[in-house]
Amino acid sequence: MSYHHEPVLLQEVLHALNLTPGSTVIDCTIGGGGHTEAILEKTAPDGRVLGIDRDLDAIHAVQERLAGAIEQKRLVLVHDRFDHLAEHAEENNFTNVDAILFDLGASSHHFDTSTRGFSFLHDGPLDMRYDTSEGKTAADIINHTKEKELISIFRTYGEERYAGRIVDAIIAERRSTPITSTVALAELIQRIVRKAGSLDMHIHPATRVFQALRIAVNDELGALGRALPQTLSLLKKGGRLAIITFHSIEDHIVKDFFRKEARECLCPKEFPICRCSHTPQLTLVTKKGISPSVEELKRNPRARSATLRVAEKI
Ligand SMILES: C[S@@+](CC[C@H](N)C(=O)[O-])C[C@H]1O[C@@H](n2cnc3c(N)ncnc32)[C@H](O)[C@@H]1O
Repeated sequence: MSYHHEPVLLQEVLHALNLTPGSTVIDCTIGGGGHTEAILEKTAPDGRVLGIDRDLDAIHAVQERLAGAIEQKRLVLVHDRFDHLAEHAEENNFTNVDAILFDLGASSHHFDTSTRGFSFLHDGPLDMRYDTSEGKTAADIINHTKEKELISIFRTYGEERYAGRIVDAIIAERRSTPITSTVALAELIQRIVRKAGSLDMHIHPATRVFQALRIAVNDELGALGRALPQTLSLLKKGGRLAIITFHSIEDHIVKDFFRKEARECLCPKEFPICRCSHTPQLTLVTKKGISPSVEELKRNPRARSATLRVAEKI
């Protein structure tokens, strides 16, 4: 299947990154290369991009789509997790960069490719790993995680109010038959939520559990938390950091990081004098998150939960 993903908030990102010809940029989630292609145009003739992705399908798609830029040595690709950002930036001479972009989460390719196991709309193996060469699959988590931990995953990462009932049903089911397909899990959840008498007509009842599983399988919040501090030493003074999130838990992590790094002092309020000697590293370019325009949402409904936040290195 060919790789498809429509870049979200593209014009807003280009504007926020403040790029000029010759700028150097790190795209930590290159995906289908939509943002990077536009960045390469904006920074032509000699701007350079380091593109990272944990998913080999994405790397192969970009190798094909942007072969010219790779040949001209304007694009370097790395197949790895973005929490190894600093190491790859140093290795490839991308220190003191003008901009860093994170466009978090899964791409349309993941949701539209049934064999990757991200979607409850197409039946496939319960996988959900961005990097299919390592780590536990969603099926491993569903079939082998203890009750309390599974409830906590669904509650914390999915804000699922029926987590307890859904986990009871999963445990009863997996005793006789392991749950290995996306549709089998989605149907079980639908049955439980329907029984509880609360079907939300706006979203499929399995949406929250699938989000929670994806976050757990890929340690998405851990990876983000480890990657953000690394950006501070890679950005030059005046360099821009732009981050697109797709749910409130991720957005909180970004908002807290930006606020913390923009503050003069991190001491508790009751301290009469500052003892932390923290120095602010960022100024906020966006006070509030930027959402997609109505036109973009008409064109690409998958952009609906996107929020862009931008900060500048001091
Ligand atoms: C929303 S897509 C990016 C789309 C891209 N901006 C474009 O225009 O096509 C997010 C990408 O991030 C990748 N990803 C998610 N978590 C990652 C991580 N921890 N390290 C590296 N890549 C990650 C996914 O594999 C996916 O390809």
